[in-house]
Amino acid sequence: MVSYRQQAARGMIYLDYQATTPVGPEVAAAMRPWIEEKFANPHSPSRWGREAAAAIEVARSRVEQAIGLAGGSFAFTSSATEALNWAIKGTFENNNRRKLVTVSTEHAAVLDTAEWLEGKGIEIVRLQVGSDGLVDLEHHGRDQLLALGNQRIVG
Ligand SMILES: Cc1ncc(COP(=O)(O)O)c(C=O)c1O
Repeated sequence: MVSYRQQAARGMIYLDYQATTPVGPEVAAAMRPWIEEKFANPHSPSRWGREAAAAIEVARSRVEQAIGLAGGSFAFTSSATEALNWAIKGTFENNNRRKLVTVSTEHAAVLDTAEWLEGKGIEIVRLQVGSDGLVDLEHHGRDQLLALGNQRIVG
């Protein structure tokens, strides 16, 4: 099998880093023991589980330091879908927000979550996008977009 790195060396360029990125060699090296040898469940009260949980806390504080966050405020999720569900649904929990603005070209992880919120009575505005990938200003009209401009857009 020819790796993407080998193909890149031959001139192929992978442009979908928004969707996924390769794991850096230093990340793979740091993770290897936890994947191959110490694969315990960090929620387990066993000695191995506690060791895994401690390693996650070390990783969490390293990430927080790297991006300048307060301690304990960074959360790991298992996927973008989980993170998006958490962020978007959480935005509408325990408050009086009633409207979500997104774009029709969003990933299903966003659009499906929007549909779920719609079922709960939240108004969903799905902005149409033209063939250039930009919001279709003509479709929506200046007044609607100006009105939305004062609101928060998620997605
Ligand atoms: C823009 C975007 N959002 C969300 C997702 C969903 O990611 P995951 O498979 O990690 O849930 C993807 C996956 O390709 C994506 O490209």
